[in-house]
Amino acid sequence: MSPAIDKSAPIVVLTGAGISRESGLHTFRDKDGIWARHAIEDVATPEAFARDPSRVHAFYNARRRGLLDPSIQPNAAHHGLAALEARWPGGVLVVTQNIDDLHERAGTRTLLHMHGELLKARCAACGNVAPCLSDLDVSLTCEACGASGSLRPHVVWFGEMPLYMDEIAGALDACGLFVSIGTSGNVYPAAGFVHEVRMRGIAHTVELNLEPSEGHSNFVERLYGPATALVPRYVEALLAGLP
Ligand code: APR
Ligand code: ZN
Repeated sequence: MSPAIDKSAPIVVLTGAGISRESGLHTFRDKDGIWARHAIEDVATPEAFARDPSRVHAFYNARRRGLLDPSIQPNAAHHGLAALEARWPGGVLVVTQNIDDLHERAGTRTLLHMHGELLKARCAACGNVAPCLSDLDVSLTCEACGASGSLRPHVVWFGEMPLYMDEIAGALDACGLFVSIGTSGNVYPAAGFVHEVRMRGIAHTVELNLEPSEGHSNFVERLYGPATALVPRYVEALLAGLP
């Protein structure tokens, strides 16, 4: 492994769909990915929801059911990051683009879902966010304000602003190590985080992915292979020598 990382400095980990692939969830841009079967403009934009909310609900309802299937469980990569957080002296923030809940199920506590959460619904009328473990449809009523037909998946669509951008910017500014796992580097602002870290010139940057991402050359260290093999090994190396 490359440079000695200051163990008192915080780590920021960015994750994408690749970390959940070996748990049985599809990625977006791989050959068998979600965007090979659905058009983004049909299911993942505010305009799509305005035009045909039932179609958008059907898309996310199917994904929610899939996520809640008992066969879908966190894998060794999710568990590795939880172990890192439990022991790293400088603290660890996981920023995920994923809307699944596999990081929290593995035990990660300091986690920001920058693209929202599949298991939550948001009211477009009052902004209330509530747990959502079953199908959404246009006839439902918001439990907070009583509006009818106002519930939408609590996910960030194309054209919408990702969540927690201020907290993430602060964390990128303070980290000693930035690790990107299982993301193709196609979607901004997440794809630009490595630039923000590199501009400071202090922190180490690492990409762990199945194959080189769009922005692979921006990372100082790059390791390729399945996340369940790479992440536990990388975490073990970071933690080596800690009490
Ligand atoms: N281990 C590690 N990486 C993997 C694995 C694996 N087992 N399987 C696939 N990958 C890699 C792929 O090589 C690819 O580079 O994961 C990456 C997945 O890329 P995308 O499908 O583009 O997913 P992601 O980067 O998370 O997409 C970003 O785009 O449409 C959206 O909102 C959606 O949050 C998502 C965003
Ligand atoms: Zn409401």
